Amino acid sequence: MRLKVIAAAVLVAGMGVTSVFAAAEGTHDARVALMKKVGGSAGVLAAIAKGEKPYDADAVKAALTTISETAKVFPDQFKAGTDTNAKDPEASPKIWENMDDFKARAAKLGTDADTLVAQLPADAAAVGAGLKVLGANCGGCHQIYRIKKE
Ligand code: HEC
Repeated sequence: MRLKVIAAAVLVAGMGVTSVFAAAEGTHDARVALMKKVGGSAGVLAAIAKGEKPYDADAVKAALTTISETAKVFPDQFKAGTDTNAKDPEASPKIWENMDDFKARAAKLGTDADTLVAQLPADAAAVGAGLKVLGANCGGCHQIYRIKKE
């Protein structure tokens, strides 16, 4: 019993210093870290589309590549049994009930991002149009599978 308590304490202490990017697979932290990467990249694209940042082909390509790569590994973070994580009020239980659909939606985002990398948007307006295509994936998945915190 005592050992168990110590082990749990070590685990909790360790969690504090672990960077979110090194967060254990299948945890809330890992999921959020990946989505934050996607959100950050979408933010870069939005800033360019709105003219808040100058058009930069390298930045556009980097953001799209990050979205593509992240979308492909995202569903791996929702392993069976990790749905009982009480710390994760944002991930809907529906994810685990409809895992095939959830995976397909993540894959679609990855494919759409790949298509845009292959035909890189050449100016701010094109970035905006591409972002609309990507954004439909974000909103579609969030609406069903993400529980908004109040
Ligand atoms: C396949 C489904 C899916 C797609 C596609 C998707 N998301 Fe998410 N997103 C989620 C889920 C599920 C959560 C909640 C994760 C959690 O809390 O464990 C989330 C959470 C987030 C968060 C909140 C992270 C935090 O700080 O708590 C952001 C930001 C986000 N998504 C941005 C995006 C953007 C931008 C896109 C599109 C480019 C996108 N997502 C596409 C499923 C998806």
